[in-house]
Amino acid sequence: MRKILDLITDEMVKAFEAAGLDAKYAKVTVSNRPDLCEYQCNGAMAAAKEYKKAPIMIAEEVVAQLKDNAMFESVEAVKPGFLNLKLNNEFVASYISKMQEDTERLGCDKVENPKTIMIDYGGPNVAKPLHVGHLRSAIIGESIKRIGKFMGHNMIGDVHLGDWGLQMGLIITELKLRKPELCYFDENYEGEYPVEPPFTISELEEIYPTASGKSKEDAAYKEAAMQATYELQHGRRGYQALLSHILNVSVTDLKKNYANLNVSFELWKGESDAQPYIPDMVQKMKDDGYAYISDGALIVDVKEETDTKEIPPCMILKSDGASLYNTTDLATIVWRMKDYHPDKIIYVVDKRQELYFTQVFRCARKTHLVDDDTELQFLGFGTMNGKDGKPFKTREGGVMRLETLLSSINDEMYRKITENRTVEEAEAKATAKVVALSAVKYGDLSNQASKDYIFDIDRFTSFEGNTGPYILYTIVRIKSILNKYKEAGKEAGTAAILPAHSESEKALMLELTRFNAMMENAYEETAPHKVCSYIYDLANALNHFYHETKIMAEEDEAVQASYVRLLTLTRRTLEVCIDVLGFSAPDRM
Ligand code: ARG
Repeated sequence: MRKILDLITDEMVKAFEAAGLDAKYAKVTVSNRPDLCEYQCNGAMAAAKEYKKAPIMIAEEVVAQLKDNAMFESVEAVKPGFLNLKLNNEFVASYISKMQEDTERLGCDKVENPKTIMIDYGGPNVAKPLHVGHLRSAIIGESIKRIGKFMGHNMIGDVHLGDWGLQMGLIITELKLRKPELCYFDENYEGEYPVEPPFTISELEEIYPTASGKSKEDAAYKEAAMQATYELQHGRRGYQALLSHILNVSVTDLKKNYANLNVSFELWKGESDAQPYIPDMVQKMKDDGYAYISDGALIVDVKEETDTKEIPPCMILKSDGASLYNTTDLATIVWRMKDYHPDKIIYVVDKRQELYFTQVFRCARKTHLVDDDTELQFLGFGTMNGKDGKPFKTREGGVMRLETLLSSINDEMYRKITENRTVEEAEAKATAKVVALSAVKYGDLSNQASKDYIFDIDRFTSFEGNTGPYILYTIVRIKSILNKYKEAGKEAGTAAILPAHSESEKALMLELTRFNAMMENAYEETAPHKVCSYIYDLANALNHFYHETKIMAEEDEAVQASYVRLLTLTRRTLEVCIDVLGFSAPDRM
């Protein structure tokens, strides 16, 4: 369905042309003075220069052309030369009635040429617990993926596990100390390795911090861990078998955690999956003359003439021949190109890694790991801070685990839900979980991703203001009206929605008409916060309409049915939006 702004612009173009003016001046925008008009065109001011006339005269000439146009209720020329537009009620109602017919997509067309877009988000590190830093990547990445899917693109999310580094050697070293009798440590063992892992997830979660602590105090221990890492990476059988156990146990646990966040990945690949691609990639970079030895290390220069700050070379191999974080990221690009040939890869990573990704992207492009038409996009997010403006910590000052954070919000939400009402415990718990997730996700997504934000549990869980619970509350309110209507034995049908009966009803309709343009723009700018600010406006418009209108007491059945259809459309629009944000609404709250 064409966007409403395009339809209005078409009429404006015709009017400018009929008045003998260049169509390039006929640009229409949403009004920045909603008290005066709904849309506006400022083109008369610019045209005045070319045609050497007063802007107001030009504006009046355009108004004359639009006088009898059915799309507008009023078109006014206002000094110095603004064109103020108000849409005709019937036109607006017919537009949203078409949205109503398109129950799935609400008038937002899928793109004509779907792209294959890989999105690298999550980035948890195996055996280390998830912390709040991983929360942002998961929340933002999932939403971007869903927005892209809604627009019709082939979106492939990859969790990109951190499963290739010293942490593996540390775990192996600690396990060996605790259970030296295990076959994994016997170099002469030639049999099959057990299917059952030699540890549980809670053991694994305890082993890593213990080992990491020890390695900081004990040089010999660290040496052993580095040696174990080296042997693992060079194919020692027992260690590789342990690695798969660690991976299996971790991934099972991670999937559970992500499922609780309503986040899922198409691919569960990790840094270790890139390793087989490294030797050939490095060889080619050398053969093609891009990589050279400097101070013993193998590097690729990535600086460019236009740089205003120093961009250091991309190091491919250390002087001891070991690969690095960026070697892995480059080799990951190799398999992504080979297996999926994406049009674009989006990385949703902490913005402090921006310089690093600049180096990786430039190196990938320069050495032709990606085609010229494959776009690499870094989407850096800011830090989630506590109320003191410093990175979020536990009360004791440690790194806040994700589980701890989420359960504190669940508890707070449960308290609020049971505060004034008696709800059955099971229902209250389930509702608290759903609403708490909206609080966390909306609290995050309503900010532009690149900005830092303050995690304010009181504000995020509030049922009022620009919050997830407020949006859910609005949906629940609609659901309850719709239920009452149904319980009265009525059926609103699918006839066209009637032209607005009041200002507040029209305002709600106008918000609805903006849905398709908003979604398209949120996709183009990879900006879930646009969806948030849209549904905040839409929820406000709905609540305003609700307070001003006697819906259940309306005596004219046809008018009442039209209200109900309008509410149903609003509910559906809000639900599509929260779905792309990655949360859902309960039936009651
Ligand atoms: N595992 C990394 C971390 O915890 C994040 C990975 C980001 N993605 C990437 N392709 N490097 O910091």
